[in-house]
Amino acid sequence: MKMANLPDSAGINDKGHLEIGGCDLVELTKEFGTPLYVLDERTIRSRCRDYVKCFRAEYPDTEVIFASKALSTVGVSEIVASEGLGFDVSSGGELYTVIKAKADPQKIYFHGNNKSLKELKEGLEVGVGRFVVDNEYELANLEKVTNESGMRADILIRVNPGIEAHTHEFVQTGRVDSKFGAPLDQLDELVGRVKKTKLIGLKGFHAHIGSQIFDSAPFVAVTKLLLDLTKKYDTEEINIGGGLGIPYLAGETAPVIADFAGQITGVLKGKTEAKLILEPGRSIVGTAGITLYTVGVVRDIPGVRKYLIVDGGMSDNPRFILYGAKYEALLAGKPEAEKTETVTVAGRFCESGDIVIKDGKLPPAQVGDIIAVLATGAYNYSMASNYNRVPRPAMVIASRSRAELVVKRETYEDLIANDSQ
Ligand code: LLP
Repeated sequence: MKMANLPDSAGINDKGHLEIGGCDLVELTKEFGTPLYVLDERTIRSRCRDYVKCFRAEYPDTEVIFASKALSTVGVSEIVASEGLGFDVSSGGELYTVIKAKADPQKIYFHGNNKSLKELKEGLEVGVGRFVVDNEYELANLEKVTNESGMRADILIRVNPGIEAHTHEFVQTGRVDSKFGAPLDQLDELVGRVKKTKLIGLKGFHAHIGSQIFDSAPFVAVTKLLLDLTKKYDTEEINIGGGLGIPYLAGETAPVIADFAGQITGVLKGKTEAKLILEPGRSIVGTAGITLYTVGVVRDIPGVRKYLIVDGGMSDNPRFILYGAKYEALLAGKPEAEKTETVTVAGRFCESGDIVIKDGKLPPAQVGDIIAVLATGAYNYSMASNYNRVPRPAMVIASRSRAELVVKRETYEDLIANDSQ
């Protein structure tokens, strides 16, 4: 099956079922239950390789680091690390996860706009390659922990580039009115402060303009801006953040990594020797993931709406309730059946906004059918919650006709593990 929002290895097997990495998705639900996150290893590896290959072909001194906030588990991090990528971590928890996955600490960039003293110390102790400093308060804290420990820290300063990207307001980050990054007119002062520290070295600048962006113009603009800063302050590294969009719906034409690479490297080639760093998250894991649910209730309100109510929802995928995100689904047991009905796939949680797909197209479905929601690899598991004390789903990685459990399904015991008796 070829649809841009499906994993690369998606196909239809002899039984007419949807398969990923040679694994029959209906069979997987019998073995692992639902809801179930399924990841295609081939897609993850292929996106990592595309990024590294396309950028290095044009601009050899490029480091690709995976934004682990998109999907942070030890198993996924191991795959990404084995492709030679580094990591963007934005908390002590993400740092801990990639260290467990044996990531090279030198290739870890520690982000966050309010890292605690404890997290800064943890970063120093494991020897992260770079701290990305967001503001003067963080610089002061980093100075404190470096002075106390006697350990050095190399940093990038995150700037607010004042560039608007056309994406959902909640995932725009580079506008002037933003909680992220140092305003450009305060950089002289911040750089001056770094120079006065004993143990902190300024390596360069970082900016992240937002997420799920289809237009390359704001990326080109931010690269130019960072190039100017590199010259002005005589630094060595340009980190343009992440943000490349993916196709959530079959009809969407998302940017191609090779074209993106051409546009970004075109700004830098012949103009600088600085190292280029980019931080894709969604575009590495997004279309690698599918979520499988079982239909438990069919509620047809004549003339109003038909609901298929599934056994998951906003706790495993909060993107509709947060951003009104759109998804597309197939029936795992008959992926090619004609989509003749308009239905709303709703969740099991005590909230009316708990919807996975509003007014989507599906073939007629019955109780017990398995619904496969596409392109759920990024910002689903990583933003999952235990609302209604529902255990979070399991996650498997499918490859070469084997499904490996990378995250166990939570148990009721897990849910109360931290409750005091
Ligand atoms: N670098 C930085 C500093 C970031 O803040 C982010 C994402 C990335 C890289 C990776 O961006 P990506 O390539 O994944 O677009 N929860 C939202 C997305 C939030 C993105 C936050 N930062 C969503 O579900 O759409």
